[in-house]
Amino acid sequence: MALLPILRYPDPRLHVVAEPINVVNGEIRRLIRDMLETMYAAPGVGLAATQVGVHKRLIIIDVSEMHDDLKVLINPSIQERSGHATVEEGCLSVPGVFEKVARAERITVRALNVDGCTFDLEAEGLLAVCIQHEMDHLEGKVFVEYLSRLKQQRILARIRKQQRQAM
Ligand code: NI
Repeated sequence: MALLPILRYPDPRLHVVAEPINVVNGEIRRLIRDMLETMYAAPGVGLAATQVGVHKRLIIIDVSEMHDDLKVLINPSIQERSGHATVEEGCLSVPGVFEKVARAERITVRALNVDGCTFDLEAEGLLAVCIQHEMDHLEGKVFVEYLSRLKQQRILARIRKQQRQAM
């Protein structure tokens, strides 16, 4: 296994729309193993393949405290959504930024598992929010893009300052 570098906003590769996965083969399963090691090490509760520069429709999520409830969703699509949830979100690609985003409270998502079999997952609360956040990454969307233009400018200014200090 290997830790993968996580792309940082505003890296333009975070805006690439991911392609469907046709076959869940050994290459994909190795990517999944590397992604989960990367997510747990970060630590984070979710990671999209887009964030490690792989433009395939794959997300992994584990919102449990004990890191024992891993969900792997390949080619996820939302079948149903209801309610409203506004939760403070963060993202491994935008470290240090936590902002509230309006999402559906409950969703039903259909995806393939690691064996390539279709399953439906009903999710609510944090898990539902996390799935929606990670699925946005597959569309090339980062959560800060839901914020006001002013907030986005402030976030970008802070990131540029951090980058200058890091040089
Ligand atoms: Ni994210």
